[in-house]
Amino acid sequence: MHYPFDQLSGTERYHLITQTVIPRPIAWIMTKNEDSSFNLAPFSYFTSLSSDPALLVVSIGNKNPKILKDTKRNLLREKECVLHIPSGELIEEVNESAASLSYGESEISKTGLELTEFVPNLPRIKAAKVAFHCRLFDVHSLAGTRFEAVYLEILKLYVEDELIQQKGERTYVNSKSLNPLARLGGNDYALLGETMTIKRPD
Ligand SMILES: Cc1cc2nc3c(=O)[nH]c(=O)nc-3n(C[C@H](O)[C@H](O)[C@H](O)COP(=O)(O)O)c2cc1C
Repeated sequence: MHYPFDQLSGTERYHLITQTVIPRPIAWIMTKNEDSSFNLAPFSYFTSLSSDPALLVVSIGNKNPKILKDTKRNLLREKECVLHIPSGELIEEVNESAASLSYGESEISKTGLELTEFVPNLPRIKAAKVAFHCRLFDVHSLAGTRFEAVYLEILKLYVEDELIQQKGERTYVNSKSLNPLARLGGNDYALLGETMTIKRPD
């Protein structure tokens, strides 16, 4: 089947893209609300872009044409966030944190997740094995869409000790123990299946 994208609606494109660009990692982003409570939401239009500067990008939509999603509203004001990579065990909490709540209604209290100290302005979710403290680097409006590409610069990384193996200069993070939760299309999620190792050609 061929799908000419210029003949498809936005919804049709969305369904085709989210079922074929898979699996997508999930950025579980915590930001500070105006009342200093914390907002938490998952985003799977997400990837890493470069190492120097260390950049991640997340594509964040709006609640409706006039109202920004809380994560974007907070990021534009506070210019920082903590971005977690959730493990499979956290699927319920990740999914629950995507509920559309009114601004200031915190997903943290709703999910019952425990926070722990991380950086001066923001804690991290204790149960998440990987957390990045990021500063807002740039925002790029995607013309004609309700999405904006939000570029985040990594300032600090937390990785749970049990995941790390140090061999000389090189740090290895155990992907099986991280057990990252990934997003597929519709309401589907995935975990890492079989992994493979093959040497890159010279
Ligand atoms: C696994 C998952 C991935 C998601 N990915 C995105 C995404 O990449 N971009 C986006 O705008 N919304 C995405 N959403 C929807 C947001 O999480 C949802 O709109 C959430 O309520 C936004 O919260 P906020 O208003 O507190 O920022 C995703 C939802 C789920 C469950």
